[in-house]
Amino acid sequence: MIGFVLPILAAVAAASPIQTEMLTKQALHSVPIGWEHKADAPGHLKLNMHIALKEQNMDKLQQRLMEVSTPGHDSYGKHMTKEEVDAMTAPAASDVAAVEEWLASHGVQAGKVANGMMPVTLTTSQAEKMLGTKYGIYYHAEKDQYTLRTTKYSLPKSVHSSIDMVQPTTLFSDMNMYSDRAQATMAFNNPVSDATNLGCTLGVTPSCLQSLYNIKYKPTSNTAIGITGYLGEIASKSDLSTFLKQYTKVPSSATFSVQLVNGGSNTGSGTTEANLDTQYVMGLSYPIKNIFYETAGEPPFNPDASDSDNTNEPYLEWLNYMNGLSTVPLTVSSSYGDNEQTVPNDYANTVCNNFMKLAARGVSILASSGDGGVGGGQPSECVSNDGSNRELFLPTFPASCPYGVTAVGGTQGQSPETAASLSSGGFSNYFAAPSYQSSQTQAYISSIGTQYAGLYNKTGRGIPDVAAQAENFLIVVGGSTQSVAGTSCAAPTFSAIVALLNDYLVSQKRSPLGFLNPFLYGKGVAGLNDITSGNNPGCNTNGFSAKKGWDPVTGLGTPNAAKLQTLV
Ligand SMILES: *[C@@H]1O[C@H](CO)[C@@H](O)[C@H](O)[C@H]1NC(C)=O
Repeated sequence: MIGFVLPILAAVAAASPIQTEMLTKQALHSVPIGWEHKADAPGHLKLNMHIALKEQNMDKLQQRLMEVSTPGHDSYGKHMTKEEVDAMTAPAASDVAAVEEWLASHGVQAGKVANGMMPVTLTTSQAEKMLGTKYGIYYHAEKDQYTLRTTKYSLPKSVHSSIDMVQPTTLFSDMNMYSDRAQATMAFNNPVSDATNLGCTLGVTPSCLQSLYNIKYKPTSNTAIGITGYLGEIASKSDLSTFLKQYTKVPSSATFSVQLVNGGSNTGSGTTEANLDTQYVMGLSYPIKNIFYETAGEPPFNPDASDSDNTNEPYLEWLNYMNGLSTVPLTVSSSYGDNEQTVPNDYANTVCNNFMKLAARGVSILASSGDGGVGGGQPSECVSNDGSNRELFLPTFPASCPYGVTAVGGTQGQSPETAASLSSGGFSNYFAAPSYQSSQTQAYISSIGTQYAGLYNKTGRGIPDVAAQAENFLIVVGGSTQSVAGTSCAAPTFSAIVALLNDYLVSQKRSPLGFLNPFLYGKGVAGLNDITSGNNPGCNTNGFSAKKGWDPVTGLGTPNAAKLQTLV
């Protein structure tokens, strides 16, 4: 009997080696904190999946990004077109073919590749076979939310190196807005007679920021700035109008346009984060065109539904959309993030590569650094999730992307301006310090000696790059004034100033700034106010202290807009 069976097994194995040899692509040590496995997923649920194909020449793209972003280089300002980025990075035909063959062998229709992503629609049982995994229904009690995910997935050897990432699989996003510290509604809802004379006495307003940051330039060049919105945030045009009337000299008719991405919606009453972002960007950058992008993603998943459309966490949906446009705004402000360790590293790499592509086209992208000091995006448990449970400071993402993103921390007070204690900052555990900042981050690390040794990564990309005011911002929500705090205040403030600089450059028939960091860590630093006091407590420590030069609380400092304009 044995002699009869063995040859057949051998023949089967030889005929389909693709199915047999699976290699792990991503594995979480455990279910992320807050999530609980409720049940195995039924096999018939529909998954909309993204397969991120291995893109070519990411090293060349990085080099090119640095050349076009570094003042003094021959290629400075010679940003790439969409076509040039696509031609440089498109996946190899052989990789596309291998993936198509793999999909076909499972009866799955290959989607059209765009921006290196192949969309496919399949059932959970097909996905489980293809990825050698088992999907589960997970529940987050605090958020009262279900999601369909797995903690591990594999790929056959034949396509393992052709694919960078498959989602939805292991990403349990905790994406947070960095403005969740809304304080009581304020009493003064009456229009102020001359808001531009208020200074900073009532709280932070656009006029306060204009004087604090020496903002004088009046835009002339018909340029645009984008503002990202996620998590169902709604930007209200009527609240913007009320805000402009009460606190600025900008015409109250000034408004933003809306781009809905991935089925997003912007109807209903305005919400804190989106109102904060749109009110401060418009208040400081008018008449630059403001575009609000509302991107849907990760909708609450109903485990009882007979069908599902479980979509992806939204950064990639937004980046796919932007990288597919032939015209993009010159500046983008984003006030959302996750603790880096909660983002699987294949996903983090793919997102950072996509920011790099957008930046190579001349877009200045700014992201807030988070509100939990050294404890991460939000105050949280400072424990590693790699199984060792060691104590750890928590850097934030996408602030930690080293190429293409400028991370903005927070300050408070005006004389002197000091670090805001909420300001998240530290060192990435995924990405090494890039050359444009490594001497500054090393200088800081040397200056603190053995303090906090083991709690942070000495070779990691330092966060943030710069800072701006992050406490006591007056905003209008539902017709009433509120005071809010968070690096969500800082990112739109710094972004609006960058939008003014980009507008100025375009008015001079020059190239926009694009990726800011090589400029900021070079001659741009002379246009920043170095913040040298305050600290960012978290993880039962006092956190890092702001110091002369770069520090992981306020970065290089806050903007002096008029001075930056002379330096660009
Ligand atoms: C520290 O950061 C580097 C990148 O600079 C990374 O390769 C390494 O894994 C990190 N170490 C830990 C313990 O996270």
